[in-house]
This record gives sequence, structure tokens and C-alpha cells, in this order.
Amino acid sequence: MTKASRTNPATDGSEAFFEHWAIYRKIIKFNYMGHDQIAASLAEHLSRRKTISGQEKVGAILDLGCGDAEVPSRYLPGLGAVEYHGVDLAKKPLEFAREKLSGFSGEVHFHLQDQAQFLAGLDRSFDLIIFGFALHHNTLAEKATVVANAARCLNEGGALVVYDVFRQPNETRQAFFGRYLDWIRRDWRQMTAREQMLIDGHIRANDHPDTVADLQACAHRAGLGAGELQLSTCQDFHQLLQFPVPG
Ligand SMILES: C[S@@+](CC[C@H](N)C(=O)[O-])C[C@H]1O[C@@H](n2cnc3c(N)ncnc32)[C@H](O)[C@@H]1O
Repeated sequence: MTKASRTNPATDGSEAFFEHWAIYRKIIKFNYMGHDQIAASLAEHLSRRKTISGQEKVGAILDLGCGDAEVPSRYLPGLGAVEYHGVDLAKKPLEFAREKLSGFSGEVHFHLQDQAQFLAGLDRSFDLIIFGFALHHNTLAEKATVVANAARCLNEGGALVVYDVFRQPNETRQAFFGRYLDWIRRDWRQMTAREQMLIDGHIRANDHPDTVADLQACAHRAGLGAGELQLSTCQDFHQLLQFPVPG
């Protein structure tokens, strides 16, 4: 399946797009994917970096698959001089993101592009590169390539942060779908039957979760330090890992 058919920018203003986007906003509103914990963890991580560096500047952040910038809209305020870059291949979420971060005093840039292409052509570096629920549509080989390209663009003292959905060791994709979709049907109680059906179809068609160890191996091959697990949420389906540039 091509990337364009996974998330097709051509349908980015269509009724179907808005229905799917409204579902994603509802999931965030009820914190079904753990966005509250993720944003709090990133805010804490960034304020710690600020304290350690002793500088007023956290540095430059690259957020791949940034969507409507819900997560950065929670951690950016209070960080001082930060340069934030959000990348997404869908136009509408970037419009929402621009609006959401319009009051932020730091430097903000958005890029309408596929994240793999963006990284492959990148000729500058960042202090923090984040993939937020933006890798699970990729195969393991594709994940390895984007992680390697991200690692190449990290400054000394920088880190790669990945928060996403993971399967358990030795769990097949089908077995994962069974567990994950059971949990969604059981616990995401505010979703209507139609919303549940669309979520089920979207996940089965698009998701390729790998294990934490798979991602750690990609990061290790890319020259990054051991992935530190910073957060496990949503019954361990969703994890946040940080891979530092070795000192
Ligand atoms: C599940 S949302 C995550 C949004 C946000 N990062 C969050 O934490 O909620 C995935 C986002 O990644 C974008 N996306 C998916 N594949 C992408 C790709 N290959 N390049 C750039 N953006 C991509 C989608 O358009 C969508 O906005």
C-alpha cells in the first residue's frame, strides 16, 4: 500500500476526512489514547532539559505527523524561546495547528509534506525530533529508514522521542488487533457504533505496530542510545520512549 493511499491528502477536505478527524478529536477529548499523560510527560521532559542545559532555550523541535498540534499546544507554553517545526502530509490538520499555535510567542513553522521525504531532504539539525502516533502505519523497514534519517539530524545532546502503539513480543499483528480492538470496544464508551466501526476498519487496514524491542533495534542501528521508556499508558498499548544522542 502506498503512503498516499494510507492518508490521502486529496481527500483532505472531504466529508470522510472531517468525519475521521472529528472521531480523532473525540478520542483526544476523552483521553482514550493517553494524550493527557503524553503531553504532561513531554512538558516535564522539556522543562528538565531546560534546567539541565541552564539555558533559556530548549532549542529546536521537529514534530513529525504533528496533526493539529494538540500535544505541542500543551507543552510549548512556558518553555521560552523554542523553535517548533510541525510536519504533516494532510493540509487541514496543519490549518488547525496553525490556528492552535497562533498565540505562541516562539518561532513556529509548518511543512505540508510526507515525513520520510521531509527527513530525507533535511539539511539542518534539531534538538528534539518527535514521532507522535506517526510511525504505526509504517512497516518495520520504513520505520528503520525514517529513524536513521531522524538520528542523522539530531544535535549533540539531542534526543529522538517516539510515542506510539506497540504490540507485545511474539504477538502477531492479528492477535494484536484482537486485543487492541477488544479494549477499544470495551473502554471507549463514548464512541458510537458507527465510530467504533470506522475505527476498527481504519486500524485493521493501516496499523503495523511493532514491538518496543523492534524500535529499540532500529534506534540502536541508527547510532542512538538505549531507548528509555518514559511512559506506558492505555493498558501498555501506548508507550513513550526517548532515545538520546550518545554523549
Ligand atoms: C494519529 S495522528 C497523530 C497526530 C499527533 N501527532 C498526535 O499526537 O495526536 C497521525 C498524523 O500523522 C499524519 N501522517 C500520517 N502519515 C504521515 C506521513 N507519512 N508523513 C507526514 N504525516 C503523516 C496524519 O495526517 C495525522 O495528522
